[in-house]
Amino acid sequence: MRVGALLLVVLAVCGAGARAALREAFSWRQLDFAWPSPAAKEHALATGAFRPEASVPVGLEVWGQRVFVTVPRWATGVPASLTVFPVNASSDSPVLSPYPDWASHNTSAPAWGQLPSRVVSPFRLRADSCGRLWVLDTGRADVLGDAQQLAPAALLVFDLRTDQLLRRYEVPRDQLMDSSFLVNLAVDVSPTGCEDTYAYLADMGSYALIVYSWAGNESWRVTHNYFLSHPLQGEFRVAGTRFQWPDGIFGLALSKANRYNHRTLYFHAFASTSEFQVSTEILQNKTRALNSFHEFHLVGDRGPNTQSCASFMDEESGIAFYTQVNLDAITCWNSRTRPHYEPTTIGLVAQDNRTLVFPNDVKVDADGNVWVLTDRLALFLYSSLDPKDVNFRILTATVQEAVNGTICDPAYSGPEPKLENHPLESRFGGGSLCDRSAATTPAAVAAALAPLLALALWGRRDAC
Ligand SMILES: *[C@@H]1O[C@H](CO)[C@@H](O)[C@H](O)[C@H]1NC(C)=O
Ligand SMILES: *[C@@H]1O[C@H](CO)[C@@H](O)[C@H](O)[C@H]1NC(C)=O
Ligand SMILES: *[C@@H]1O[C@H](CO)[C@@H](O)[C@H](O)[C@H]1NC(C)=O
Ligand SMILES: *[C@@H]1O[C@H](CO)[C@@H](O)[C@H](O)[C@H]1NC(C)=O
Ligand SMILES: *[C@@H]1O[C@H](CO)[C@@H](O)[C@H](O)[C@H]1NC(C)=O
Ligand SMILES: *[C@@H]1O[C@H](CO)[C@@H](O)[C@H](O)[C@H]1NC(C)=O
Repeated sequence: MRVGALLLVVLAVCGAGARAALREAFSWRQLDFAWPSPAAKEHALATGAFRPEASVPVGLEVWGQRVFVTVPRWATGVPASLTVFPVNASSDSPVLSPYPDWASHNTSAPAWGQLPSRVVSPFRLRADSCGRLWVLDTGRADVLGDAQQLAPAALLVFDLRTDQLLRRYEVPRDQLMDSSFLVNLAVDVSPTGCEDTYAYLADMGSYALIVYSWAGNESWRVTHNYFLSHPLQGEFRVAGTRFQWPDGIFGLALSKANRYNHRTLYFHAFASTSEFQVSTEILQNKTRALNSFHEFHLVGDRGPNTQSCASFMDEESGIAFYTQVNLDAITCWNSRTRPHYEPTTIGLVAQDNRTLVFPNDVKVDADGNVWVLTDRLALFLYSSLDPKDVNFRILTATVQEAVNGTICDPAYSGPEPKLENHPLESRFGGGSLCDRSAATTPAAVAAALAPLLALALWGRRDAC
């Protein structure tokens, strides 16, 4: 490696943040919930029904004046896995209210199993333009422990104006596999009306998309080679911890509808740096979805170390945002002004080794604000979170602020970036990190993680 490049790498690994276009809206050391009474909280703490150290936020959505956050049941002690708080909350660390209510989350209550609105463990959710909240529940509790399937994987759709459940759709067993893990979804409302809506569910664990039709109240499973992970791109390095995940299709970003009312679904596997696309016209026809190999296309590659879990496209501007887990960063791509997809057309929105460690979800709300949730998930899974440090953050900016001055800015007028001096390229090296997971993963944690093979979450215990 040239000395100059080496210097850049060193700067990159050590530099806390080249750009900080996102401002911190909320942050937590540990999560707390809106308990019915102080006594209820004391009781939950005493019985282990609430273990603050087990509650880690993953997915977010912002609709109206409310912020929704999922808190999957990674382990026992998560009292509510779908929560909400007001965007104008007076605290920077608001308590989370169970959504739609406590009863839907109280798995120990006798009537819980009969409640249509029961929620077990959703990872991500999406509010649509018709005022519906789509929640994708994996149904699996104690994911890192005994992994109990408390309910079938299901799509729950709520009316955001009344907070009533509109529909519960359990994904048919024959569309899932033992390794299935429904981590993300995109919701596609046709310009022709709210009845004509499809949801695309990413099955990261068995490399499939489940397409759900709201009008038909039915779903079908779509597979494609492009949903697989890349064998050479499954290594992650976050906060000094190194681990290997085989995670398949994860990021789903929908373009604006074209004049035939179809969109482009941009997608990528987590363990991959390539982006692909397919027209929703193909996915919506269950015959064509399985017989159209060549209708799925490679868009391009973001470059080394740009593995991304969630992504989202702002329909108005055509700008996509990516969570960059290996870079402690958020990046962008402007599909209209820079349709050619390669490292030089990917812009760096924000990067910070403290506030952007494991960006886990990204959304753009109806008012054009980007929202990012970061949660240091790698530390939670492989070592531990420090309860005295700020671990979880929600950051925000307008789309315009987020891309200001980057290659994604529609008004960008700087020099055409070259690979050598591209802001991301300087961070592509960084091979010198210590494998802390190796040294510190206790045998018990390693054992607890073993069943996770099927869930595609597995830490290797090799030496640093
Ligand atoms: C982040 O970068 C700063 C600046 O180089 C460095 O001092 C610090 O140790 C890094 N922090 C973490 C958590 O890696
Ligand atoms: C938040 O906004 C709602 C209505 O928009 C208002 O009733 C409430 O008082 C506000 N809360 C705070 C803490 O500002
Ligand atoms: C959950 O249900 C149990 C049993 O009915 C009850 O004792 C407990 O108070 C409930 N918890 C909450 C937070 O509502
Ligand atoms: C949708 O289908 C499921 C079973 O596939 C059924 O249980 C449910 O009642 C249906 N919902 C509606 C609104 O038709
Ligand atoms: C699905 O595609 C097939 C094959 O192209 C076509 O024959 C059929 O009419 C389509 N179905 C619908 C509902 O559009
Ligand atoms: C973009 O950045 C420039 C200079 O840094 C600043 O003057 C301008 O106000 C910013 N625009 C937006 C929309 O943030």
